[in-house]
Amino acid sequence: MSLFKFANQFNRITRVMKNTNTITRSVSNLIYDKKPTEIVTPQGYEVPKYMKDIYDIWYINPKRVKLLDRQIVVQSILFGYFGTLCKMLINEVTPGSNLLQLGSTYGKLTPLVAQHLGPHGEYHVEDILPIQVASCNRKMSQYPVKGGCILHNAAEDPGDQENMFDYVTSYMLFHEIPDDYKVNTMNRMLKACKPGGKVIFIEYHLPYKWSPLRPWMKFIWRWLEPLAFGILDKELYELGDPLLHKQFKWRKELKCNGLYQKLVGEKMFETKI
Ligand SMILES: C[S@@+](CC[C@H](N)C(=O)[O-])C[C@H]1O[C@@H](n2cnc3c(N)ncnc32)[C@H](O)[C@@H]1O
Repeated sequence: MSLFKFANQFNRITRVMKNTNTITRSVSNLIYDKKPTEIVTPQGYEVPKYMKDIYDIWYINPKRVKLLDRQIVVQSILFGYFGTLCKMLINEVTPGSNLLQLGSTYGKLTPLVAQHLGPHGEYHVEDILPIQVASCNRKMSQYPVKGGCILHNAAEDPGDQENMFDYVTSYMLFHEIPDDYKVNTMNRMLKACKPGGKVIFIEYHLPYKWSPLRPWMKFIWRWLEPLAFGILDKELYELGDPLLHKQFKWRKELKCNGLYQKLVGEKMFETKI
């Protein structure tokens, strides 16, 4: 073997060793880990009813998952707004920080966030489906960011993550979960954010009154995403306990005739009551 080839090989092995040392991250009693990259279904696990009833064709059926987890599909579903929404999220986040994301995502969002957080950052993701956990970890394993995706229901608070994360985010999750999950997930997110940190929501919003998208999207939601109606008549943060959401300073930005929102809450160090 030439010296050049040997040096290359050595370099590759040390890089892989470094990665395997940093892939697991324990945060509270949950361990966010880039393994498994293959589908692992724990004994006794059951897919929640709303996922089976509404989202089987989107997230559960392996053939469909393979077909849909592509950038071109994500771009089409979002009317070409993927890049805009992704930038809106990433612009709020400082590299090297720790971020909790509830619900994994199709397409390039996870790789772009992982790349942005960088080798000193921590990226913790949770998803309720084993198949999504595996594909999220496959994507994350390509990056040196610490953390990983685990099987966990976003609406279940592990109870010991209070004030733990610089950023807590959800990307198009709330319109897909039942109303009681929405409340629990919001409260959990507000609690888990550190003072000085941010909660960031990228989500649907009711389009402006004059927009042709308004009747069209109402039809689509009624047909395909009936749980979306639980977020359209209020500000998202109002789902949470007022004692929690009053600890934040809120701002909102709309895109695509008001169809998409970025809602950001900055957690204050002291709460004025
Ligand atoms: C976050 S949304 C993102 C939707 C968007 N179409 C995308 O992929 O970019 C979809 C993910 O949320 C997950 N999910 C649904 N309910 C959940 C829950 N209660 N806890 C955690 N993840 C959940 C689904 O399994 C799915 O992988």
